[in-house]
Amino acid sequence: MNYHVGVISGDGIGPEIIAEAKKVLDRIGAVYGHTFECEEILMGGCSIDAVGVPLTEAAIAQAKASDAVLMGSIGGNTATSPWYRLEPQLRPEAGLLKLRKSLNLFANLRPAYLYEELKEACPLREDIIGDGFDMMIMRELTGGLYFGARKTEEIDGVVTAEDTLTYNENEIRRIAKRGFDIAMKRRRKVTSVDKANVLDSSRLWRKIVEEVAKEYPEVSCEHMLVDNCAMQLVKDPKQFDVILTENMFGDILSDEASMVTGSIGMLSSASLNDTKFGLYEPSGGSAPDIAGKGIANPIATILSAAMMLRYSFDLDKEADAIEAAVKQALQDNYRTIDIMPQEEEKKSLVTQVGTKEMGDLIVERIQKP
Ligand code: IPM
Ligand code: MG
Repeated sequence: MNYHVGVISGDGIGPEIIAEAKKVLDRIGAVYGHTFECEEILMGGCSIDAVGVPLTEAAIAQAKASDAVLMGSIGGNTATSPWYRLEPQLRPEAGLLKLRKSLNLFANLRPAYLYEELKEACPLREDIIGDGFDMMIMRELTGGLYFGARKTEEIDGVVTAEDTLTYNENEIRRIAKRGFDIAMKRRRKVTSVDKANVLDSSRLWRKIVEEVAKEYPEVSCEHMLVDNCAMQLVKDPKQFDVILTENMFGDILSDEASMVTGSIGMLSSASLNDTKFGLYEPSGGSAPDIAGKGIANPIATILSAAMMLRYSFDLDKEADAIEAAVKQALQDNYRTIDIMPQEEEKKSLVTQVGTKEMGDLIVERIQKP
């Protein structure tokens, strides 16, 4: 088959990690007889530099015309980059939010899984890690605070900023259903995370999740307050299977979950709508501090490409092959700097490699079945 992939290399480490994911796709194509035709789409800071805005209508149309979109990362250093002296709606992140909304990508899946081989990189105590953990964060992606009306104004001489957090029952229901559907294919447990002791939007969230839960009698459903969840993620991450939550809570908790898996450089993500289309991106950011140094971990992006094959193209065998190759490279003791063991004496047991080498090592390990 021939697949048309929109590629957003973006900013910072984006182009470096995307180059490795493309190499992996080419290898999969050669081994399994597919072609992945990649077309670059401008978004983020690089789009601002080229055309003055972070996302053009033409770029949205390009994304819509693709079978799926693979993205690196966008944005820069918020303290120093000139992009952050622009109006908020002209900054790099505004492009990503607009693209998510335009494509109706309401369901964001962020798997957080501790590789056996990376236990040494996990900052948690051994007794907490136990046999490891494997959870899926299901984040609502097109509602809530990130999309509500906002303004900054002077009221009686006092500068005041306002952001609004709105959810309607339909938005909650459709993401909750996705969460329970995913749980059915996993360990059948949903932890719905909210702040129902304070927020109206969370009280509605809890009510609708309860209703949806009744349609899935085989799935156990519990509710957890977001502050408690932040604590439980480091206290006992094994308890989680699917974490179902709203936009901002999911943004924060998924970064935390990625760190307990060893590194944000390992965490892939898929943003899906009601069709087979999806946007696939590493959960981490553009890491401007290490951009261009050739040390960024490309694994999250490579695993995002695997998710693309699985969810948008139904190429399960091929996705399995990528995941197995990543695992094999780790088993063969290759590590990028972010997943090096924490203890000095264990460092000599592994080989530290850069972005390109890690990509090559994974490519080499994709063999004909
Ligand atoms: C993420 C990022 C984005 C978000 C930013 C870049 C707008 O942090 O994908 O988690 O908050 O959704
Ligand atoms: Mg984030």
